[in-house]
Amino acid sequence: MNIPLRIQDIAPAIMDEIGARVKELTDHGADVVNLAGGAPSFPPVASALRSARQAIEDPGTHLYGADAGLLSLREGLSRRLAENDGIKVDPATEIMVTAGANQAFMLAVLTLLEPGDKVLLPSPFYFNHEMTVRIAGGVPVEVPLREEIDFQLTLADLEPYLDMEPRMLVMVSPNNPTGAVYDPEELQRIARHLSSRGIVIISDETYQHFVFGGARHFSVGSLPECRSQVITIGSFSKTFSLSGWRVGYLVAEADFVQQAIKVQDSMLVCAPLISQRAALGALSTPAEELARRRAVVSELNQLLARSLADIPRLQWHPTQGAYYAFVHVEDCADSAGLATDLLETAQVAAVPGTVYGHNGEGFLRLSYGSASKIELEEACARLSKYFAAC
Ligand SMILES: Cc1ncc(COP(=O)(O)O)c(C=O)c1O
Repeated sequence: MNIPLRIQDIAPAIMDEIGARVKELTDHGADVVNLAGGAPSFPPVASALRSARQAIEDPGTHLYGADAGLLSLREGLSRRLAENDGIKVDPATEIMVTAGANQAFMLAVLTLLEPGDKVLLPSPFYFNHEMTVRIAGGVPVEVPLREEIDFQLTLADLEPYLDMEPRMLVMVSPNNPTGAVYDPEELQRIARHLSSRGIVIISDETYQHFVFGGARHFSVGSLPECRSQVITIGSFSKTFSLSGWRVGYLVAEADFVQQAIKVQDSMLVCAPLISQRAALGALSTPAEELARRRAVVSELNQLLARSLADIPRLQWHPTQGAYYAFVHVEDCADSAGLATDLLETAQVAAVPGTVYGHNGEGFLRLSYGSASKIELEEACARLSKYFAAC
């Protein structure tokens, strides 16, 4: 079959490839410590499972649902968005439930992009965003962020790219892969400036729950003057450990949602109802349980910081969000080769920085929140031995 170059040129799905190799090694008896995965190590929240068990007995669960998602879930989400993020949403018209944040992003991009439109991706970027833009016929434009300022996004770094009249900017805070939590004041400056120039912001807030060490999450969708130019995306995968259930959401003005519903209808009809019911249950998780999870991740962050400080070739200035460390490896010009060798010889799985854009060469992404304390200690011991020998 003739597959268009637009699709052929997209890099292979890296997490799938790493996952397959880890499984192969493990099946052959290897004791791999996996710091590559993007799912947190916690079990799914209990109230989600209770809700899903009840839903399976409900005849309505087995039929198609509304394209925008269960109204009860949209109502629950709108309460949560108002309380946690200061985003005021009409659940009937301004929110859609999706099959994860990735599908929400695809939906937003397919609804908005004209072929050839430029999309600014602060780099390192989340690779699925770049893939999606290409699939939709858009042109991803990397905006390099600076390691010296811990990969913070600044208006000054964006400014040189605004004259090319991009259609949108994609922001991820807390960030994958860097763990950076963007400064609220700077975010407001960026949002106001871009809105005034008619540039849409897609704000991916998948990791919003995992912020610690004094940092504060800020949603640009909460700024009334920017509302019409902002699309906020969220996920149940990380906060509630429900990645396999595939539930996320998208918040935008009603006109946008009305158009996106047509795209959703042809792509998916609706997010799976059993998963939506699990998500509805998840929203009643006690705040203490979620806070406990955040505290565990924060402790793992400190453990990793202490351990990496003793490995001279690895440099990491600890960031305060998500559960990823984007670690600079001294004298490394081939992070893909390094990640492969690390997995094959030390049996530690990490993601090479290059999959997050050109700006990621020389880095490895370590996912400390997807490991237990014991696993993380073991991984650090292996990293120490590995880098001492080469
Ligand atoms: C920034 C970012 N957005 C979206 C996703 C995907 O989330 P979901 O499982 O809700 O599709 C991930 C997963 O790693 C991510 O890192």
